[in-house]
Amino acid sequence: MNILGIESSCDETSVAIISNDKLTANLVSSQEFHTKYGGVVPELSSRAHLQMVIPLLKDALKKSELRLDEIDVIAATAGPGLVGALLVGLTFAKGLAYSLKKPFVPVNHIEGHIFSGFLMDEKPEFPMLVLAVSGGHTLLLHVKSFYEIVKLGTTVDDAAGEAFDKVAKMLGLGYPGGPKIQKAASEGDPKKIKFPVADLAGRYDFSFSGLKTSVLRHIQKEYGPSLQIPEADRNDIAASFQYAVIKALIRNSERALKNYDVKTISIAGGVAANKALREAFAELAEKYNKKLVVPSMSYCGDNAAMIAYRGQKVFESGKTFTLGYNAYPSLPEGIFQD
Ligand SMILES: Nc1ncnc2c1ncn2[C@@H]1O[C@H](COP(=O)(O)OP(=O)(O)OP(=O)(O)O)[C@@H](O)[C@H]1O
Ligand SMILES: [Mg+2]
Repeated sequence: MNILGIESSCDETSVAIISNDKLTANLVSSQEFHTKYGGVVPELSSRAHLQMVIPLLKDALKKSELRLDEIDVIAATAGPGLVGALLVGLTFAKGLAYSLKKPFVPVNHIEGHIFSGFLMDEKPEFPMLVLAVSGGHTLLLHVKSFYEIVKLGTTVDDAAGEAFDKVAKMLGLGYPGGPKIQKAASEGDPKKIKFPVADLAGRYDFSFSGLKTSVLRHIQKEYGPSLQIPEADRNDIAASFQYAVIKALIRNSERALKNYDVKTISIAGGVAANKALREAFAELAEKYNKKLVVPSMSYCGDNAAMIAYRGQKVFESGKTFTLGYNAYPSLPEGIFQD
């Protein structure tokens, strides 16, 4: 059984193949050129996906030692994401499915992230508690099986990754902010500035916009109209901000661990690449004696390996989809989609 996965929801074009349950290719082309605009430019992203998808498919087939007609199932991200970008990968996948007369499976990008821990050698065991933290989402999930995902909490405003990106911009660190904040934070003191961490009255939800505003107020108050921040201070702000975000993520995860009996805890999504968060999650697993599964760095950011894996699971559920299936920009209710 050979599954082709295609991902094009934002600024990474990716093609992967899972052949007989083994990942044989996971090629990612990152659109670095958005950096100079300070964020992703949707139209430029769509055009770049269009240029990259065929060369990546050719390379993935070569790497997997397969011919195109040996692909059995074609899976592609259908949403959430930038609609123009999604349409490139999705339409390409549907065209392939039509011409090869093979089943087409639309994949929910966030479900891809949620199950990315299964790409590791050490597999998660259900039920799981998954913290999915990325550029667009911050979700705490009770995952009972491949087809039963219960949302415990979400962000009421900014996503964690979005907060990293916006604070990095305030500090003049550039885009994407996560890795830049992490680097600056490694040289700073996380206890230097006490930024507030919103706690929504015992709920599992998150809020990062107050934290973001208090970083901005701190910068305006300390550095006046020039906003010239000395490097040492910038590192302390980055470290203190990162500390506050992780504190909120861990607090809610711990709250869920007290109320839900799970076997595995896992983090997923772009922010799961954060070293301090990975360490904090490892401590949490140890404290509550849970199995810890953390995807390797290459499976945290957007990649098609997770789309092929999720595509296979959706295909195995017996659901079928028509070529009329369309792209969708935001997360549907109930996460696991019909
Ligand atoms: N080391 C890191 N520390 C913190 N954040 C990070 C790190 N590396 C990446 N990020 C953040 O991860 C985000 C990108 O993750 P990802 O690509 O999964 O998001 P997305 O696909 O844009 O959004 P979504 O998956 O919600 O649709 C960015 O906000 C980026 O700043
Ligand atoms: Mg993503």
